[in-house]
Amino acid sequence: MSPFMEAMEKTVSEITAPGKGILAADESTGTIEKRLKAVQVASTDDARRDYRELLFSTPELGAHISGVILFDETLRQRTTAGIPLTQLLTAQGIVPGIKVDQGTVALPGFPGEKITQGLDSLGQRLSEYKQLGARFAKWRAVISIGAGIPTPAAISANAHALARYAALCQEQGLVPIVEPEVLMDGDHTLATSALVTEAVLHRVFHALHQQRVVLECMLLKPSMVIPGASCPNQATPQEVARATLTCLRRTVPAAVPGINFLSGGQSDAMATAHLNAMNGGAVKQPWVLSFSYGRALQAPVLQAWRGEPRNKVKAQQALHHRARLNSAACLGQYTPDME
Ligand code: 13P
Repeated sequence: MSPFMEAMEKTVSEITAPGKGILAADESTGTIEKRLKAVQVASTDDARRDYRELLFSTPELGAHISGVILFDETLRQRTTAGIPLTQLLTAQGIVPGIKVDQGTVALPGFPGEKITQGLDSLGQRLSEYKQLGARFAKWRAVISIGAGIPTPAAISANAHALARYAALCQEQGLVPIVEPEVLMDGDHTLATSALVTEAVLHRVFHALHQQRVVLECMLLKPSMVIPGASCPNQATPQEVARATLTCLRRTVPAAVPGINFLSGGQSDAMATAHLNAMNGGAVKQPWVLSFSYGRALQAPVLQAWRGEPRNKVKAQQALHHRARLNSAACLGQYTPDME
């Protein structure tokens, strides 16, 4: 058993504080370049620093955000005034975390399927990240739905990598966020999304058990069970909540303290409405159900900012607003008129 149990339990309890969630700001260099380009900002070191400094210095962010996931570059960056960016977070009572996977590549022999890389020398990288102040980590596996996919082999390979990563994190006292994302690209139905997500989560928890991962000291970051983006039959928030909770109750042990959903390309308002529906039901769930949104928290911020220093306050207000609405959704207290 890890000598860091107490430290990890403390991290988990801070991150799962009632009404709080995670801001995923861990876009890799390629992804942040795409996001910045969409608002006509060139992705220089300084632009990325300025943008993340804006996010993390948002007044009162700590009232709604308990953790932020960073990319390697950001964990090492300092503000224009020379303060480590992580200090902006800890000053607000926010726990810094780090994305440790190294992206996805094609899985040989399985057309259309992917495997996440980064296990080699992960132990050494984790040890450095811990020195730099990270207290939790994230690894994302990607599962696509299509003709004949996902295959059981691709699901198993990704589950195995997630479990090996989680065990390595716990060995060093970092809380692993286990992220198996079933993509919403495609025209599959809600029922297909449910079948695939159930199979994936089943396999992931089997692998976590095999690798002796302590469930009490991890967090799950799943996709919601929703129809494919181009499915003609879209679902109501209540249908999404019912399908997602059914799937989670069948596969996620009650020992897991928290489930922080990704947004995966849903609009910001839909991601909030779905989370609210999951927390608004009469049945009490065994885990804290919260968010770990990237795009659904940041899209309005980027739109407001557009790289202009004079838009900083407006952009920070946009982040605070979205964080506050998702915070309400964690408590089942969100209504669309709050938009
Ligand atoms: P989205 O909420 O934009 O899906 O991002 C969350 C994330 O961290 C993906 O790995």
